[in-house]
Formats: sequence, C-alpha cells, structure tokens
Amino acid sequence: MKLLFVASECAPFVKTGGLADVIGAIPKAVKGFGADVRVLIPAYPAFDQIADGATKLASFRDLYGGPASVLAVEADGLQLLLLRADHLFARPGSIYLDGTGVDWSDNHLRFGALSFVGAQVAQGLLPDWVPDVVNAHDWQAGLVPAFMDPKKPKPPVVMTVHNIAFQGLFNAEAVDELGLDPALFTPEGVEYFGKLNFLKGGIALSDKITTVSPTYARELLLPEFGMGLEGLLAAREADLTGILNGIDLDVWNPGTDPELVANYTVRSLKGKAKNRAEVEARFGLTANGAGPLFCVISRLTTQKGLDVLLECLPGLVASGGRLAVLGTGDKMLENSFVQATGRYPGAVGVVIGYDEGLAHLLQGGSDAILIPSRFEPCGLTQLYGLRYGTIPVVARTGGLADTVIDANAAALSADCATGVQFLPVTPPTLGQAIRVTTTLFEDQKTWAGMMRRAMRHTVGWDQSAKVYMGLYQSLSKT
Ligand code: ADP
Ligand code: GLC
Repeated sequence: MKLLFVASECAPFVKTGGLADVIGAIPKAVKGFGADVRVLIPAYPAFDQIADGATKLASFRDLYGGPASVLAVEADGLQLLLLRADHLFARPGSIYLDGTGVDWSDNHLRFGALSFVGAQVAQGLLPDWVPDVVNAHDWQAGLVPAFMDPKKPKPPVVMTVHNIAFQGLFNAEAVDELGLDPALFTPEGVEYFGKLNFLKGGIALSDKITTVSPTYARELLLPEFGMGLEGLLAAREADLTGILNGIDLDVWNPGTDPELVANYTVRSLKGKAKNRAEVEARFGLTANGAGPLFCVISRLTTQKGLDVLLECLPGLVASGGRLAVLGTGDKMLENSFVQATGRYPGAVGVVIGYDEGLAHLLQGGSDAILIPSRFEPCGLTQLYGLRYGTIPVVARTGGLADTVIDANAAALSADCATGVQFLPVTPPTLGQAIRVTTTLFEDQKTWAGMMRRAMRHTVGWDQSAKVYMGLYQSLSKT
C-alpha cells in the first residue's frame, strides 16, 4: 500500500511541536504492515545537507513566483519528498514566523504550494509512484483535496487534525492568488465566513477525518473545542475517528537515551537520581525541596494553561516542590516565568528556548511533569513522562484524559494509577492536583509503584498503527 503524507514538520529534521514527532514516527510504525509511506514536506534550510544527495523527480517552472522541484531522498529511515521552492522556504528562523514573530505574510502561498504539489503527486506527478491513499496533516496540507483535478482519478484523502486552533485563515483574495477553483469558495467547500480556511477545506473535502485521540474527537463536536468548525465536524461525525498518538520507543527510551547522564529501566530506577542532580545543576535548583521536582516542557501558549501554573507557584514552592521550565512562545509567559526565578530563587528554574536534548534530560531527571492544558488534542509529553517514570499531572481533556490513569481512591486501591488528573483548569484545581502529587510523593513506596506502572504503560505505536492501517485499507478498497 502506497501512502502519501503531506505535512509541514517532520522529526528529527524540523520540529516546532508534536506534529513533527508523529509525522516522523507513523511511517516507521506502519511499515511493518506493508505500507510504503512517502512524506512530502517543504525543503526548509534544515534539509539543505540532506537535499544534496537527493534525486530530482519533477519540476515546476513557476510555483507562486519562482521555480520549484520535488526531490526524493531517504533519511533517518524515512522516504522524503522534499518540495524545493527557495522563494517560499529558504528562509532563516522559524518555519511559520518571520523575524518579528508574526506569520510570514505569504503563508497562504507557502502552504498552498505544499497542498498543490501534494495534489499533483496524488494524481500522478511521479509516474513511478502513485499513492493509494493520501493523508494530509493539519491546515498546511488542508487544500490537498481542493487542488485535485476532478477530471483525473483521485485517491482517497484522510485529513488528520492535530490541532484545530490552527486553521489557516486568509482573505478571500488568496483563492485567486492560489488559482483555486472559485466554485470551491462556498460554505460546502473552503469558504468560512467570507474567508479562505485551509483546514475547513480539508475537513469538508476529504473522505475521512481523523484526530489524535478519541476524547478530542468527541470534544471537537462541542463549541468550546471546535473553534467554529464544530458544526461541520458534527455533520461529518460518521467519518471522524480519534486515533491515539504513540511515541517512538527507540528515541524515547530511558534505558538507552544518550541525553541522560545515567540510563535506567523499570527494573532499576537508580539512574533517575543522577539525572535529577543534573537537572538541578542545569536549572539552578539549589533549594533543598523535600517535595517533587516538577517540570514543564512546552510551547508557551494559552492552550497549555501555563498562566494558571504561574498562579500556583506560591503553593508549589511552599510545600517543598521545585519547578524546572523549558519552553518558548508567548513573550508575556516567557517573561513571567523568568521573573518567577527571581521570586523563588533556587526553587524555580527556567530555560527559555527550544532544546531537544534538554527535553530528554528533564524527562529523565524530574519526578513529575505538569500539563495543565485548556485543550490537548493528544499531547506527547505525558507519554514521554510515562515512559520515563515522570508522573504526569494533567488536565482531564483530549489525549491527556485518554492516556493517564488518575490516582483516585479506586485506582490507588486497584494499583493502576499512573498520574494525576484535574479539571477545570483553574488555580484552585491545579493547586489541589499539585498537593495530591506531593502527598503521593511523600509515600515513596506508593510513588515507586506508580513510576513502575507508568513505565510499563503501553505508549508505543503498535495499536494505533493497526488502526491507521485498517482505515487506509478500507479506503483503498472503495
Ligand atoms: P504540541 O504539539 O501541542 O506542542 P505535544 O505534547 O504533542 O504538544 O508535543 C510537544 C513536543 O515538542 C514534544 O516532543 C516536546 O518534548 C517538544 N517540546 C515542546 N517545547 C519544547 C522545548 N522548548 N524544547 C524542546 N522540546 C520541546
Ligand atoms: C498538536 C497538538 C498535540 C498533539 C500533536 C501531535 O500539536 O497540540 O496535542 O499531540 O499535535 O498530534
């Protein structure tokens, strides 16, 4: 089965969040089921070296203002189709934002081009490799079905929603600039209250829609979570499924992780203390807290509820807890966390920035990971936390609700708790969850039991890869 993935990020090459991890992992996970996945992705500067060894398969004289080509290359076990279009993608810094932190003004053209070429590959641009099914991921690939030529054979398209907060909304003029069929600019197609909406187009025009957890699939039908697309999703409910993300068990393995100062396993947790000491040193956590060392590894945005955590810091520190934060994003949140290090010297440490290695070390050296998200389609950091015996303390929403077993009385007496959940996302409820975690931590036997259970929890791709394959197979037969 030949599968074309169209996406804007892919680990380990280019990553701003969980989307990249998932795009890097699914192709490997479904390979064992006979799937041949090619990932179409823009050739950002991060791919420069890799592109040197690539084979040119197709070219375009003018793709929205400049020449473009499709290059094939194998890297890190993935078959990549790089969309080379230097006028669109050869830019330093963020793949989405310009130097001032604002969306690149031509993002409609940049990701319109990705979608357009996705549609071309889907419909035979590469004669030696025509996909049986296309999986478009997030808004950047949302226009793939819209760009397909109705006169040519069309493979089925799956639209995967990783986060409905990002829809790719542009002024109506973009329809013309992109050369989209104006007949699609209707409420049944790509139009959304007079604007062009990439993700809406993807949801409306694809054969099936998936999202990244069963709970988020249900939440998406509600106005609080659907971000204006709940009506359309409700209309397509029969075609919508939630398939839980997994994690790459080789990349995230405390037993072998090269970013840890000491490796450890569920049978011998000893190494965790050495990693904790390293985290303390790296984050300046000199306070002698008797409580847990909490961490945060996150984009700093409203989604993640970290403004609520800021309000809980007095309680966290007063009860002997310490906090290490690794994150980047919203400047106000960045500043507030940096200021907190001054208010709680030695108890709160912050690194502003994106650092993959440090994210691994934090998972290895922290006792608990805080994820107070207002919504969370799946969330991967709680899965890494489980794998590293770093107890997830999470809001009961989306994939967080589906992957963490709350340490309530029933779960504790049945010996099945793996974390702590709370809702709603408010300072009192998060404060309470932090207190519950601290109490559990004080009983080191209970805590070690939870760590071991967490580490044994199934977090790989096996199960979900089967479900994805079932979906692709059912579509390729129709
Ligand atoms: P989202 O995709 O919404 O950002 P996920 O939990 O699905 O949330 O994925 C986040 C991914 O990004 C994880 O792999 C996490 O380790 C990583 N990450 C987030 N912020 C940082 C950071 N500042 N430095 C390193 N890795 C980070
Ligand atoms: C999005 C979501 C996150 C999810 C990731 C990968 O970025 O915010 O919850 O884990 O996509 O699917």
